[in-house]
Amino acid sequence: EKSGYEYFMLKEIAEQPHAVAETLLGRLNETGDLMLDEVRLTDQDLRDVDKVFIVACGTAYHAGMVAKYAIEHWTRIPCEVELASEFRYRDPVLDRSTLVVAISQSGETMDTLMALRHAKEQKARVLAICNTNGSTIPRESDAVLYTHAGPEIAVASTKAFLTQLVACYLVGLHLAQVRGVKYADEVAAIIAQLQEMPEKIEQVLSMMAPIRELARDLAEAKSVLFIGRHVSYPVALEGALKLKELAYMHAEGFAAGELKHGPIALIDEGTPVICVVPSPRGRGVLHDKVVSNIQEVRARGARTIVIAEEGDVAVKPYADHLFYVPITPTLLAPLVTTVPLQVLACEIASARGHDVDQPRNLAKSVTVE
Ligand code: F6R
Repeated sequence: EKSGYEYFMLKEIAEQPHAVAETLLGRLNETGDLMLDEVRLTDQDLRDVDKVFIVACGTAYHAGMVAKYAIEHWTRIPCEVELASEFRYRDPVLDRSTLVVAISQSGETMDTLMALRHAKEQKARVLAICNTNGSTIPRESDAVLYTHAGPEIAVASTKAFLTQLVACYLVGLHLAQVRGVKYADEVAAIIAQLQEMPEKIEQVLSMMAPIRELARDLAEAKSVLFIGRHVSYPVALEGALKLKELAYMHAEGFAAGELKHGPIALIDEGTPVICVVPSPRGRGVLHDKVVSNIQEVRARGARTIVIAEEGDVAVKPYADHLFYVPITPTLLAPLVTTVPLQVLACEIASARGHDVDQPRNLAKSVTVE
């Protein structure tokens, strides 16, 4: 049931504030402690963890990339993220003190399932972050954190991605709390910020009209590039993936700092470059670096489309198009900066006349390797 939306994807994008609230629901007790009750690992098991490995495919992998920044920052446990299809065929170093986190919307992705089985053979503990109750991946895991996003029908993942991010943040915070790395009040502060995210996502959704307009304009572009740094780097990759799969256009995401090591040669007069800018507060150096990167691509002819935090005036002179998102702590920013990129991809695909819900050559659940 599309409830009045032209596509399931648009409906699912609109459902994101609610989906994120559902992922957070019931995860806190009266004293503000995090409760992951579906996690059947003891606190001692979690204290023993000395390495985290995240395995996933596609969009879920991008959620894992964001999680690495948060988990290492909050817990100080080394965290690696790997494509499930690669993980399995190398010889990853795992043992019983390794926590493997498998992220999958469907819970049936064969590559992720095989990575999980491989991890279990090496005696690692496996935690699944999944949206589909009773699916294979959670059934075979030691512990499960369900995202509760509700069924995702459109082939391109949207609300599953945002809720995977939230679940990853919860895992990171829980690990930090159990291991005593962060004080309870610090964890409580981040939790409070997480609770504000549904409203912020709602605000972003209410400001999408100019993105739709821009989409019609970009529909004929030969290639679209996305740049970001830190947690905005996986956001750039996710924006590019959405555009490839829906609009069948060449799109590529880059770590902005890598541009000068090669990709900047791609920039030609009028090449659209979508720039996801970190908050100028907190990690100010990072912000300034991205602003320089925007200047660099613009000097070479790029048409810059800038997603920045409200009140960030420094980007103004270098933005051909500027979209603001609400003020958000850096690590949580992907929850707001991803949304305009989802809408953009959906609208460009629609302007090109494609069936947004059923892109060619793709299946919702990839149950073959
Ligand atoms: C992209 C997309 C895919 C999936 C990937 C993993 O929009 O939907 O990249 O994210 O196939 O699927 P799950 O999460 O079901 O394991």
